[in-house]
Amino acid sequence: MLSRVHTLRRCRDLGGGSFAIEVDGPMPPTLPGQFYMLRTEQRWPVQLPRPFSLYDRAPDGAWGSFLVKPVGEGTRALCAARPGEGIVLNGPLGQPFAAEFADAICVAGGVGLAPFLLLARNAKASGRELRLLFGGRTKAMLSGIEDFAGLVRLAASTDDGSYGFHGKVTELLDSMIADGRVRAGEVVFCCGPDPMMHAVATLCEQRGLRCFLSLETYMACGYGVCNGCTVKVQGERFKGWPFSRTCMEGPVYEACELVH
Ligand SMILES: Cc1cc2nc3c(=O)[nH]c(=O)nc-3n(C[C@H](O)[C@H](O)[C@H](O)COP(=O)(O)OP(=O)(O)OC[C@H]3O[C@@H](n4cnc5c(N)ncnc54)[C@H](O)[C@@H]3O)c2cc1C
Ligand code: FES
Repeated sequence: MLSRVHTLRRCRDLGGGSFAIEVDGPMPPTLPGQFYMLRTEQRWPVQLPRPFSLYDRAPDGAWGSFLVKPVGEGTRALCAARPGEGIVLNGPLGQPFAAEFADAICVAGGVGLAPFLLLARNAKASGRELRLLFGGRTKAMLSGIEDFAGLVRLAASTDDGSYGFHGKVTELLDSMIADGRVRAGEVVFCCGPDPMMHAVATLCEQRGLRCFLSLETYMACGYGVCNGCTVKVQGERFKGWPFSRTCMEGPVYEACELVH
């Protein structure tokens, strides 16, 4: 695990209120689903850094980027930083999406799109095209969608019907199961707002698909010492212990491991 100051290259407007914050490397090799704790070097307004999935990375690590939506003081400070300023990064942290499920169907909502760009690039590099289902309230809210052009087989949904399938991304997934484009026994990787992940997990359970969720739990330290990020769990890998630290054993869990 590395903690160091990187220089901000640019803050790219992705539309829909989100930004890609690009920093100079060297970015360490990072697996899709792993995350970093970030803060600005100057004028950081809150006590603790904030967690973000790595969004993109140059193949040689010369730069990396994070998809950030300003929702509070920390994210606003990151998006307000100017080129040349320092961004403090700690990572890579956490466990990635399981590499054994190379043909997983990725389902994303909002900034939950972030972990899937690296996954899509890795798939493309090995001659495959990832299936990505991406949902938002409106076309404008599908922030980052252009970055996936030519990389994935994309199916988008909007609540207002302004782009792609008219409805929720869960309804899109359900329709794809109904018409045979997605089959029982396939694996889903999902990241997005909690209600959406809950709905996707429920649908997968009903339709006989395995489902892995990348949680966006509140975090404090990010590396296992504060117990501020625990979730209730069950299953063999936790050796009978009913709690798991999202920053250590997560953020990716199989849905059936999580206890509500
Ligand atoms: C592993 C991981 C990866 C993440 N990746 C990304 C990413 O790629 N892009 C991105 O934009 N965000 C990501 N997040 C969420 C991001 O860390 C939070 O939005 C950020 O911590 C908010 O900090 P803040 O100081 O701006 O807001 P705060 O002032 O802390 O909070 C502002 C508002 O957002 C709510 N909020 C804050 N954090 C969360 C949360 N985790 N879940 C639900 N509500 C929350 C608060 O209740 C409050 O209403 C990720 C989180 C985790 C754990
Ligand atoms: S955030 Fe401190 S233990 Fe996970």
